[in-house]
Amino acid sequence: MMWKIGDLELDGRVILGPMAGFTSRGYRAFMEPFGVAASVTEMTSDMGVIYGTDRTESDYVTFESERPTGLQLFGHDPECLAKAAAKALEINSSIAFIDVNMGCPVPKISRSGAGCVLMKDPKLCGDIIRQIKRSVDVPVTAKVRLGWTMATVNFRDVLDEVISAGADAVCLHPRTRDERYVGTPHYDMIEGLRKELSVPLIISGNIYSLDDAITAVDVTGAEGIMVARGGVGNPYLITQIDTYFREGIRLENPTISQQTHWCLALADHLLGEKDAVEAMAKMRSMAPKFIAGCDGCREYRYLLATETYSRDTLVDLLMEIEHYLGDQRIHIYNFLDCFKSGTDES
Ligand SMILES: Cc1cc2nc3c(=O)[nH]c(=O)nc-3n(C[C@H](O)[C@H](O)[C@H](O)COP(=O)(O)O)c2cc1C
Repeated sequence: MMWKIGDLELDGRVILGPMAGFTSRGYRAFMEPFGVAASVTEMTSDMGVIYGTDRTESDYVTFESERPTGLQLFGHDPECLAKAAAKALEINSSIAFIDVNMGCPVPKISRSGAGCVLMKDPKLCGDIIRQIKRSVDVPVTAKVRLGWTMATVNFRDVLDEVISAGADAVCLHPRTRDERYVGTPHYDMIEGLRKELSVPLIISGNIYSLDDAITAVDVTGAEGIMVARGGVGNPYLITQIDTYFREGIRLENPTISQQTHWCLALADHLLGEKDAVEAMAKMRSMAPKFIAGCDGCREYRYLLATETYSRDTLVDLLMEIEHYLGDQRIHIYNFLDCFKSGTDES
């Protein structure tokens, strides 16, 4: 399905979600060929861009990718965010869109006035989008939550403001700030939301399986399906979602052999961008996820999490895993099953 964020044409529905500490340049380059229509960088400080000090500079200064990639900025001052957006585009003209983080729940970020705390002031959210729109000629998007707490859910007000200010698409993670990343996201509270909006909607939250993606789209009518945690250790999820929405075909889950191959490919991407110690530390957190939910994988998950100190040890472990478990298919739990019966009846 072709759709547009402003003038930007997207071929496919899967958006690779921003995850600080994970979705680095190498991670994105690894994930994109699986069927990503667009990616978003990790959140990047507006001040870091303005002063050229941001640690994640390498993530937006150059992209290896041919897929559209958006730079996600965090900050609270409309002028600074607009200045940062313009400067980043001067540095890297291939940034395809600017996304503003209005959903981060982390206290350190809220204390600086950025992330989800912005939602307490919907007008400010609108001002931010308006100023950025004046300073760049690429599309501008906002990523929001339901609100700060269940008692103060105000995503409709915030969406009204940012869309009136010119946002070209919006992304909603249907949890409140208080809920951080746990529990079932409240898709029930955003039923049919797309119909209420004049711009495309991207939904984010517990898309762990193809059925989760189908359910979330059925419930909300969203164009975009953001894959974040569900893609870590399961890049083929993106292919399954992309293929289903293009051709109506349900691809089987990958085998452990495929997974071990992809796990090493990810390690090589990370080794290409970070020093070996850092790359292997990241792999210790991600490699075990590649062999989720199959018989006999528990011990190997533990070994991958504790003994992946070099590419060679990773290769040895993966070869052993492939030898003993290779033909099995990974098993992924459908997180959003709870919404399915409602959808089927309607
Ligand atoms: C470790 C981690 C880091 C994240 N970093 C960001 C970020 O930098 N910017 C952002 O907008 N969302 C961030 N998120 C939120 C995700 O993009 C996504 O909206 C959320 O995790 C729900 O989707 P999921 O259940 O598919 O992971 C992060 C989430 C996690 C778990």
